[in-house]
Amino acid sequence: MYYPEEVVEEVRSRNDIVDVISAYVKLQRKGSSYFGLCPFHNEKSPSFSVSPGKQMYYCFGCGAGGNVLTFIMEYENFSFPEALKFLADRAGVKLPEQEYSAEAKRQQDLRTAILEVNKMAGKFYYYQLRTEAGKQGMEYLKNRQLSEETMQRFGLGFAPKYSDSLYRYLKQKGVSDELLRQSGLMNVDEKRGMYDKFWNRVIFPIMDVNNRVIGFGGRVMGDGKPKYLNSPETPVFDKSRNLYGLNVARVSRKKYIIVCEGYMDVISMHQAGFTNAVASLGTALTSQHASLLKRYTDEVILSYDSDEAGVKAALRAIPLMKEAGVRTRVLKMAPYKDPDEFIKALGTEAFQERIDQAQNSFLFEVSVLEGQFDMSDPESKTSFFQEVSKKIAGFEMEVERENYIEAIASRYHTSFEGLRNMVLRYLMQGEVPFRPEVLRSRKSPGRDDGIKKSQRMLLTWLTEYPGFYQTVKTYIRPEDFTTDFYREVAQLLFAQLEQEKLEPAQIIDHFMDPEEQRQAAELFHTRVPVESENELKKAMKETVKKVMTAGLEQKNASLDTTNMNALQQMLEARRRLQSLDKMVIKL
Ligand code: UTP
Ligand code: MN
Repeated sequence: MYYPEEVVEEVRSRNDIVDVISAYVKLQRKGSSYFGLCPFHNEKSPSFSVSPGKQMYYCFGCGAGGNVLTFIMEYENFSFPEALKFLADRAGVKLPEQEYSAEAKRQQDLRTAILEVNKMAGKFYYYQLRTEAGKQGMEYLKNRQLSEETMQRFGLGFAPKYSDSLYRYLKQKGVSDELLRQSGLMNVDEKRGMYDKFWNRVIFPIMDVNNRVIGFGGRVMGDGKPKYLNSPETPVFDKSRNLYGLNVARVSRKKYIIVCEGYMDVISMHQAGFTNAVASLGTALTSQHASLLKRYTDEVILSYDSDEAGVKAALRAIPLMKEAGVRTRVLKMAPYKDPDEFIKALGTEAFQERIDQAQNSFLFEVSVLEGQFDMSDPESKTSFFQEVSKKIAGFEMEVERENYIEAIASRYHTSFEGLRNMVLRYLMQGEVPFRPEVLRSRKSPGRDDGIKKSQRMLLTWLTEYPGFYQTVKTYIRPEDFTTDFYREVAQLLFAQLEQEKLEPAQIIDHFMDPEEQRQAAELFHTRVPVESENELKKAMKETVKKVMTAGLEQKNASLDTTNMNALQQMLEARRRLQSLDKMVIKL
């Protein structure tokens, strides 16, 4: 399926974003934007903004954002062609025939249908838990000290004793056998035909970040095996891309997210007020999970079980987090098995204390390493220090290395100098344990974020004060932006400004992936609290300087000193930077 750009553009421009969104969200004008309660997360005060000028929306609470097409896709759970069709119909635009492939449409319809069946099943289980048939389940959950409110919040349910109760219910609702098979809710075998996958279990519906039920987990009551049954992967359920509880944790507004092992851990933590807890779904953490977490936080607290499996899981998770740019600390659960037990035994405050004391992931790795060496044997102890030094040599920044050398030297009562020499030796050998891409992403995250923020601010201002472009363009080129993605957006925006055809919403459509569309919208919605025009101009000047300097530094790092042309350009850019003080901004 492919629609020419002009068609997309016509549909988009004929659907004013404020008109369209007003049909879904109550909006109120505030300055040049409209605000309302975000339809993509639960909130009490409005942080969802719609800008008629930019023809974009952006939520300052959860980061959802995009143009009118993105909105319809997200809100209605439509594919791109479906959203385009919907908006074309709304504005009376006729779409060219051809449309999308039959296969793509079939897939999308199937996903929508499965989500619908899941919703029905979730309601069925929820209802059963609260009837006579669910009495045993209710007792079980109460025994585990879950409050009625918690059960409601997580939509907990019960699959009755008979292995065909859900089957009969859904048949009576007119769901076809084929759809039931694809939903993962049924088992099929030759002898018995089709019957419920879950029976006589308490049910944990699994929701995605948009609160749609994508699968289920069912726990046996008592000690039967398997303890948990989970939905198989289906067209809507991908275990490596979803985390249990993230729909709530993402809006918890805490600085970090707690990652633990199980459904019950998440639920007890939420009940105790730690509404920022999530768990992977009976699988190890993947790099996709790490990037998903990075969307919502910069720091993760690993709260895995205190057994060997939990330690292994933490050791595996740490490098994945690092690679995604998420800081990790590891919480010490001992002597309790898991968060659920811990909180029941010692309560909320003690758990918060453990969070505050959680060990930095590097020191955690070192303590695990320590366990593998006999520290009373000098030779073994030396090998331990060698291993640690090798790890420290893997840190890119000198301050960071020095800090760790100091921490390790004092913790293990060894000489700072001696340890430093060992680290230096590994540094010179270039023998570092991390992969190069890890090193790159580790590069002073704080500062990097600052630079990116300046770049986002610049892009935001350019859309809000197009007159600012005349000043900016003498100093900054799209190439000065430091990531491929930012460069691409800058290029598109600069081209529009050059032609005096500012249409930021059009830029969103250059990106196919909804996550990229969201990020693009984010680039145009950076808020800076400035009071007066003077302050604004001052901030603008500083920002131009930051972006320019970062661009220069990046060029510097990859400069080919034999290339006269490149050298010239570099010198010229330096001169421009020096002349910046004289810059006059007209808005
Ligand atoms: P745990 O056995 O630690 O579960 O497994 P838990 O949440 O503490 O369970 P309770 O407290 O005894 O009820 C951690 C996670 O591993 C997955 C589930 O996602 C579980 O929450 N798991 C475990 C399975 O998928 N199947 C199993 O048989 C066991
Ligand atoms: Mn457990």
